[in-house]
Amino acid sequence: MKTYLVTGGAGFIGSNYIHYMFEKYGDDIRILNVDKLTYAGNLENLKDVQDRENYTFIKADICDSAAIERIFQENTVDRVVHFAAESHVDRSIKDPEVFVKTNVLGTLVLLNAAKAAWELPDGSFMEGKRFLHVSTDEVYGSLSEEGEYFYETTPYDPHSPYSASKASSDMLVKSYMDTYRFPANITNCSNNYGPYQFPEKLIPLMIHNALAGKPLPVYGDGKNVRDWLYVMDHAKGIDLVMEKGRLFETYNIGGHNEKQNIEIIHIILDTLKELLPEGDERRALVSEKLITYVTDRKGHDRRYAIAPDKIRSETGWEPETPFAEGIKKTIAWYLANEPWIENVTSGDYQKYYAEMYQNR
Ligand code: NAD
Ligand code: TYD
Repeated sequence: MKTYLVTGGAGFIGSNYIHYMFEKYGDDIRILNVDKLTYAGNLENLKDVQDRENYTFIKADICDSAAIERIFQENTVDRVVHFAAESHVDRSIKDPEVFVKTNVLGTLVLLNAAKAAWELPDGSFMEGKRFLHVSTDEVYGSLSEEGEYFYETTPYDPHSPYSASKASSDMLVKSYMDTYRFPANITNCSNNYGPYQFPEKLIPLMIHNALAGKPLPVYGDGKNVRDWLYVMDHAKGIDLVMEKGRLFETYNIGGHNEKQNIEIIHIILDTLKELLPEGDERRALVSEKLITYVTDRKGHDRRYAIAPDKIRSETGWEPETPFAEGIKKTIAWYLANEPWIENVTSGDYQKYYAEMYQNR
């Protein structure tokens, strides 16, 4: 039985990945979920797996080398899937330091702990060990309006403190592969959407605000493009790279689903109107009139678009969820899970929201 050490498993993508893995492998794998539980980490996301015998949660900071080394000493870890990160661009613009600490230093701590546990006296690595570093397409920078795509060979050109910290962590993983032949892969994925996403990101923020009749803040002209992928398709891509990808390679993950932000907002409004039952008082609040153009994000990347040719041809990965279906499933999930959203938007979130949007 293989043991997976998943970092950041209480966050959005990590928790969906853990669900995906237990649905696919059942009792044939063991998962150790290592998470610091920052504002973005929520064990509620994992309540249906928490009692499994083959699942263990360990509260730890990936920057704490003693804690991370101990986990490797006390467990035979076969695979690391590294999600833990500070992940929100707007927060990185306000406070870059924690992004460098967690995303860069935390990745180094993990690399060192895995290397120490897996390295043999002759400098080679134990058979079957693998480290998968989960990264973003934002490391490639920004594309012009149309026709260009991010390939694995596209030079890195990050612009935000978030993407610069992710690019740095990717470079560290590359350096461990090049220097030590450390058994790793990097995946660079486009924007994800789906259940359990914290409502500071575009899609859940718009759903949450629309249901409350609050303004929908559109940065700049609303025509920036993101390439949206349903989170379970990302989870599947990570698993396929782990199983079928060639070691030391980078794989881009994305489903050719480019949309302008303003298009996304209209789709959310239309879907909410369709899904809210007659007589639900929130129906009256959901309106195009809520769309509010606000000051643009500093350094706002114009367009991201992934070319997924390599992961397709080498692992057979295909995105399974068309956007029309995925967004409906996502909105239905948020409608059915109001207590979850109430829980994560109380307290500190209120303060964050008031501060972040005060001058916009
Ligand atoms: P998230 O912010 O929802 O979750 C991050 C998780 O990491 C949380 O559970 C948090 O508690 C944990 N964490 C943060 N700092 C930690 C630390 N120091 N030690 C241990 N745990 C810590 O993020 P997400 O959207 O799920 O993204 C997961 C990963 O995927 C990130 O590496 C991100 O860069 C990458 N990614 C995200 C997207 C996207 O669209 N969200 C797209 C491509 C890649
Ligand atoms: P976001 O979800 O923060 O993801 P990222 O910046 O990592 O791509 O933002 C997606 C897009 O939506 C991005 O172009 C910024 C824009 N956006 C808004 O227009 N308004 C908002 O309130 C937010 C959070 C984002």
